[in-house]
Amino acid sequence: MPVIAIPPGIEGIVGITELPDPAWADRWDRIVVAEDLKERLLNYMVFSLRHRGRLRAVALPVHGLVILSGPPGTGKTTLAGGLADRAAQQLGQPVLFVDINPHAFPSQLLGESQRSVARLFERTLPDLAARGILTVVLLDEVEAMAVNRSGASLETNPVDVHRATEAVLAGVDHVARTCPGVTFIATTNHRAGVDVAFISRADLVEEIDYPDAAAVHAILVDTLRELTDRPLDEVGLRALADRCAASQVDARQVRKLVLRAICDRRDLAVDPSGISVLDLEQTFRAGRGRLEAAT
Ligand SMILES: Nc1ncnc2c1ncn2[C@@H]1O[C@H](COP(=O)(O)OP(=O)(O)O)[C@@H](O)[C@H]1O
Ligand SMILES: [Mg+2]
Repeated sequence: MPVIAIPPGIEGIVGITELPDPAWADRWDRIVVAEDLKERLLNYMVFSLRHRGRLRAVALPVHGLVILSGPPGTGKTTLAGGLADRAAQQLGQPVLFVDINPHAFPSQLLGESQRSVARLFERTLPDLAARGILTVVLLDEVEAMAVNRSGASLETNPVDVHRATEAVLAGVDHVARTCPGVTFIATTNHRAGVDVAFISRADLVEEIDYPDAAAVHAILVDTLRELTDRPLDEVGLRALADRCAASQVDARQVRKLVLRAICDRRDLAVDPSGISVLDLEQTFRAGRGRLEAAT
């Protein structure tokens, strides 16, 4: 599906994509999280996109905001795109996926961040929504944008931080009121850093944690199957999955373990189809199973 050109001068928008797009299906199918979590997310998204505009806010307040919270590398950003794609498939109609980078809003200068945030929510997003296509807006790592006012540090300008956070809250409320076809997905690696008033607006807050042994196993098999069709040592794989889960290796690092095993051996770099569970075990045992092991 075509990627829609970003209007020039619009800061904060990383990309706009029309979904469903077959190339995005992996973002849903290959992110391993509890099935009931996926089910809730999809049900919410279908309901919100289809019905939010018709509901009376006092009877059933639906803000059009879901938050995915959890440690880095657990699939939140990827799953957000997958969710929008799957919802578009489910609804049988196109959905615009708008990717916002909250880090793009400068906070150094008094008021500037607040003004650009206000412009995004009061002008840019309503303009996009006015195209009449259902729209999902990703506020990735929203802790950078809706900074928790109770914890704003003194190095940054607390007045500006407060104002920017207030602009986000007012902005989400404005879009909720005026753009019934828009639903937000916010992600955060640091829930305590997100303003409580933002979290309280969410219709659904879902925690995604480090993968358990069964999930690590599924991710390892999925990653290895990208490289080889050979039979895998099932006992060794289960033992490795247990160890990864016990040391809280995040899902991204589980996939990278396979890559690091390849980096350990020239023959695998040349022909990765020779990779085995034993190679992964050796790399894991050598302490190269996770990047942040030292911290
Ligand atoms: N739960 C998961 N299941 C399978 N792969 C995952 C999972 N979480 C992360 N990954 C892998 O790590 C990559 C980065 O994940 P990402 O969505 O950026 O995580 P987060 O946003 O939580 O930091 C994904 O594209 C995928 O390859
Ligand atoms: Mg992320």
